[in-house]
Amino acid sequence: MERLKVNLCGIPIDNPVIPASGTFGYGYEFARFYDINLLGTFSCKGTTLEPRFGNPTPRIAECPDGMLNSVGLQNPGVRAVVEEELPRLRQVFRKPIIANVSGFSPEEYAETCAILDREEQVGWLEINISCPNVQGGGHAFGTTPEAAASVTKAVRKRTTKPILVKLTPNVTDIVSVAQACEEAGADGLSLINTLLGMRIDLRTRRPVLANTFGGLSGPAVLPVALRCVYQVSRAVRIPVIGMGGISSAEDVLEMMMAGASAVQIGAANLVNPLACKEILEQLPSVMDRLGIQSLYELHS
Ligand code: FUM
Repeated sequence: MERLKVNLCGIPIDNPVIPASGTFGYGYEFARFYDINLLGTFSCKGTTLEPRFGNPTPRIAECPDGMLNSVGLQNPGVRAVVEEELPRLRQVFRKPIIANVSGFSPEEYAETCAILDREEQVGWLEINISCPNVQGGGHAFGTTPEAAASVTKAVRKRTTKPILVKLTPNVTDIVSVAQACEEAGADGLSLINTLLGMRIDLRTRRPVLANTFGGLSGPAVLPVALRCVYQVSRAVRIPVIGMGGISSAEDVLEMMMAGASAVQIGAANLVNPLACKEILEQLPSVMDRLGIQSLYELHS
């Protein structure tokens, strides 16, 4: 449908509703629920150079209007992604995907991205410098402008595809991190990743998560995400993908009005595997109700 089309760093996509990394596997897992080709694209599970088992369990905790996760970047490693996951995905999805990449040094990010850069089905590389659940990687590179720029530059040197840098809200000044990424060669930004939080079991008096802390996502974080997207999109010239707590067509439009060129949907997929499909189906009638002809007009 023409009125839902958007452009992401020079690549046109059919609509702006993108399942977020870590909530949609490598895509094919959701193909048994619906034809995932109705999505414009999606972001695959965060991939690292070597396989990772992830954090000890429990690594999920429920919260009012959201959830905590401390998965710890469980994934089979980039070689298995290239040899097994992407060929399986190709059977069910015909469009370019966003490859989400994590690492523990700028060189490691760059090496993983260089491998994925050669894959035809990878349209964008999403550099995750915002995972709060691992020591010495992820988040550690997203909390200062210097560290964020060092990863972005290292990846830029080894890749040709558009780079999206995924930012953390767990900083004093997200705008300065965003600007450092833009200057270092990012083509776009995605924000926000989860907010660091914890829960305590009243009976054991111990943290619920084995890793003590985890990342909060879900409807509770939407106002924080809107604020960050609003601030960042006004301070950079590259496109921003807004995410954090979106669970309805109205939330999609609110995020785009804040300045996002497209949105990602995360926790909602875990509550309802059909969430993205249903939101997409509702979007045109909500746009009609609000007098919005096309999504491009939200950016003019
Ligand atoms: O722990 C995890 O795998 C989460 C990753 C993220 O929030 O980026």
